[in-house]
Amino acid sequence: MSQLKMGFIGVGDIAQGRHLPSFAEIDGVELTAVQDLNNERAHSVAALFNIPYVFEEYNELFKVVDAVTICTPNKFHSEIAVAALEAGVHVLCEKPMAITTNECEAMIESANRNDRHLSIGYHYRYTSEAKVAKELMIQGEIGDPLVTRVQAMRRRKVPGWGVFTNKDLQGGGSMIDFGCHLLDLALWILDDPKPVEVMGKTYNRLSKTPGLVNDWGAIDAKTFNVDDHVTSYITFENGLSMQFECSWAANIKEDHTTLSISGVDGGMDVYPFELYQAKYGTLWDTKVRLPEEKGSPELSQAKNFADSCLGKAEPVVKAEQALRVTQLMEAIYKSSETGSSLRLD
Ligand SMILES: NC(=O)c1ccc[n+]([C@@H]2O[C@H](COP(=O)([O-])OP(=O)(O)OC[C@H]3O[C@@H](n4cnc5c(N)ncnc54)[C@H](O)[C@@H]3O)[C@@H](O)[C@H]2O)c1
Repeated sequence: MSQLKMGFIGVGDIAQGRHLPSFAEIDGVELTAVQDLNNERAHSVAALFNIPYVFEEYNELFKVVDAVTICTPNKFHSEIAVAALEAGVHVLCEKPMAITTNECEAMIESANRNDRHLSIGYHYRYTSEAKVAKELMIQGEIGDPLVTRVQAMRRRKVPGWGVFTNKDLQGGGSMIDFGCHLLDLALWILDDPKPVEVMGKTYNRLSKTPGLVNDWGAIDAKTFNVDDHVTSYITFENGLSMQFECSWAANIKEDHTTLSISGVDGGMDVYPFELYQAKYGTLWDTKVRLPEEKGSPELSQAKNFADSCLGKAEPVVKAEQALRVTQLMEAIYKSSETGSSLRLD
């Protein structure tokens, strides 16, 4: 196969803003078909991107494509991915992989049985900083990692549009939307350590306050029922511990994305990238000139997926790794509900 026929299921904001423009740039990819519950939107997107087929049912779309992106609300990720994989179609599914670990497992089982690629849209892995951090870990520059701090923090920016705050459709709020990217990135850079215990606490008191000052549109304090701030402490089999926090709405000085790893021989901050070491009797702080990237992380993600389907690359984001992210988020939510830590071993 030298040409890849791509289908797009769910063509709202992320599909139109990132996936469709990215796949449209790749030689050897044909934008072939779209499907969306909102049929009018499916037709207008097809016209915008010159896509020949529009379907009302995704099972019909599978007959004319080799691969699909799934950009529906999270509730439908697993059901649609399994249907695609069973029809022999490769899948790039938006993050999170699914709401529950069971749903993720069903996706992996189907991908393996049907020998199809299944990858997830954790595109932070394609940022220059992340690639440098991963390489430094592989080369052992900071030795065994001991303590990791992961923060995905926004000040008063609860998304006031779309389905972001719809618990039924999304399964959660700030963690399942934003925190999951940084959690995935940390686990990938740390080479997928096995988690053993999770303590978590979720909050949503700010967003339930009528008249909340919010920079990203209006939210309904009466119906708000997802997390807007999450803290957790995770320990791993190799002795590593992680403090993980994310928020849409914190009362902090400014938004920030922090991934900081302190190891036996050194440490690093990923955003912005900096390496900390102690050698020759002194402390060293190393800044790097990151390579200039051609295109966005989403374009790299689309290229890696297309190349994987065409047999020219391995998927960077493996489904088993994405399952681990969902498993940890599920444990954090459960720990917060029960008020006690959860063992995963
Ligand atoms: N990677 C990122 O940084 C990022 C950012 C935002 C959203 N997302 C993820 O992308 C997905 C979609 O988010 P969005 O912001 O584009 O949402 P959206 O509401 O803008 O678009 C979702 C689209 O899916 C359609 N849809 C709903 N149910 C469907 C179904 N059962 N079958 C077919 N179509 C269906 C809707 O009509 C809509 O057009 C979510 O999983 C979200 O978590 C990822």
